[in-house]
Amino acid sequence: MKQLYIETLGCAMNMRDTEHIIAELTKKESYELCTDAKDADFIIINTCSVREKPVNKLFSEIGVFNKIKKEGAKIGICGCTASHLGDEIFKRAPSVDFVLGARNVSKVIKAVNTKKFIDIDIDYDESSYAFSEFRNSIHKAFVNISIGCDKKCTYCIVPHTRGEEISIPLELIVQEARKAAQNGAKEIFLLGQNVNNYGKKFSSKPKEKIDFSDLLNIVSEIKEVERIRFTSPHPLHMDDKFLETFANNPKVCKSMHMPLQSGSTHILEKMKRGYTKEWFLNRALKLRELVPNVSISTDIIVAFPGESDEDFMESLDVMEQVKFEQIFAFKYSSRPLTQAAEFTNQIDDEIGSIRLKKLQDMQNEILDEISILRKNVVYKVYFEELKNNGMIAGRSDNNALVQIEGGKELLGTIGKVLITNPRRLALYGKIIN
Ligand code: 5AD
Ligand code: SF4
Repeated sequence: MKQLYIETLGCAMNMRDTEHIIAELTKKESYELCTDAKDADFIIINTCSVREKPVNKLFSEIGVFNKIKKEGAKIGICGCTASHLGDEIFKRAPSVDFVLGARNVSKVIKAVNTKKFIDIDIDYDESSYAFSEFRNSIHKAFVNISIGCDKKCTYCIVPHTRGEEISIPLELIVQEARKAAQNGAKEIFLLGQNVNNYGKKFSSKPKEKIDFSDLLNIVSEIKEVERIRFTSPHPLHMDDKFLETFANNPKVCKSMHMPLQSGSTHILEKMKRGYTKEWFLNRALKLRELVPNVSISTDIIVAFPGESDEDFMESLDVMEQVKFEQIFAFKYSSRPLTQAAEFTNQIDDEIGSIRLKKLQDMQNEILDEISILRKNVVYKVYFEELKNNGMIAGRSDNNALVQIEGGKELLGTIGKVLITNPRRLALYGKIIN
C-alpha cells in the first residue's frame, strides 16, 4: 500500500473535500492514510485562500515537506489556492506534482497518476457529486448540499475559486444522509456556501420546487438522524419560514451562524452584502425570541476599506445588542480578483489590529457574562471525542463545548449534563442520567 498524507486548511467545505479525496484514493487506488508526512508517498495540501496569510504559508510549507519527504515522494496542491494561483504554483514550487482546484477534487485519481496534472476549471462538473465513501468521524457526517457561491461580496475570493452556486439534487442528499446515519452518524451537518439559498438553481430542473426549510424537514424524517446542523446560512435569506422551521423542528440543533461582517449599513453596502444593520438585528432578535436557548455565532471583518471609527462602533453596537455566543473576527485582507482590492481607501494595518483587539476584548466580556448564566443548566450533549486527561467532550444542542469525566463507553451517545463549572471556551459538568 502507498502512504497518503493530507493536510487540510480552511473551512468545513474543505474538510469534506478532503474526505472525498481520501475516499477516492483509498477505495479506488492503493493508498492508505498515514499520520506522518515523512512516511508518505503522496503529500497533499488542501488549501484555503480566503485570507493572504495561509496563501503565503503554503509555499513555506511546501519547502518544509520537500525537506522531510521520502525520496521520490510527491506533493499535490488542492483547494482554493490551487484554483486561484493555478500554474503559478508549479513556477514558484517546481517540486509540486499536481494542482487541483476546489471544484475539481473528483479528478484526484487522474491527478495523482498524471505528471504535472492541472485542473482549475470552475465550470459545472456532474461527476463532482460522485465519490466513494470515507468519513473522518462515524458520529458526525458532513453532507454537501450545494457547491460554489453566486454572491458578489466585494472582499471575497470564493466565487472565483469555487465557481457558480449549484444545488445538489435532493435525492442525492437524502441518500448520503441516510447512509451516514445508518452507519452510526446521529448528527448530519449540511454544508454549502449559502445553505439557506438551497433550491434556487440545479444543474437540471427538479421535479418539484424545494427550498432549504423543506430540505431540513425532509432530512429530519430519516429515522436514524437525531441532530441536524448546517453552515453557512446567509442573513439575507433568513426569511420567516426559515426561522420558524429552525425553531420548530426538534431535530434541528439550536445554534445558528449569522455572518454579520459589519454592523455599519454603509460598509455592508460597500461589501455588497444585500442587507442593512436593521435587517440583521431584526433577524437575530426574532431568532432569540423564537428560540430562547439559541446560540448565535458570527463572522466580523474589521478595517474593511473606508471603515471609519463610527462604522466600527456600529459593529460593536450589534455585538452589544445580539450578544453572540461565538465570534470569528478577521482583519480585512485584500484579495486578488476582488472588487474591494481596487478600493482606494484601504485602512492601515495598525488600525486593523487595534480594532481587532477592541472587538475581542469586548467579546471576552460578553462571554464572561454569558457563561455565568450556564451554571446549573442541563444540556443534552452528543459525546464525540475522548480527551487525554480522562475527560470526554461533546457539543450541546446549541453548540456549547461540554466536557465531563468519562470514557469510551460514552462515545456516540447523547446524555444529559448538569453544568457545574462554566468557562469561556468550554462548560464542565457531570452526567445526570
Ligand atoms: N479578509 C478578511 N476576512 C475575510 N473573510 C472572507 N474574505 C475575507 C477577506 N478578504 C471572512 C468572512 C467570512 C469568513 C469565512 O472569512 O468573515 O465569513
Ligand atoms: Fe473554504 Fe473559502 Fe477557504 Fe475556500 S477560501 S477553503 S471556501 S474558507
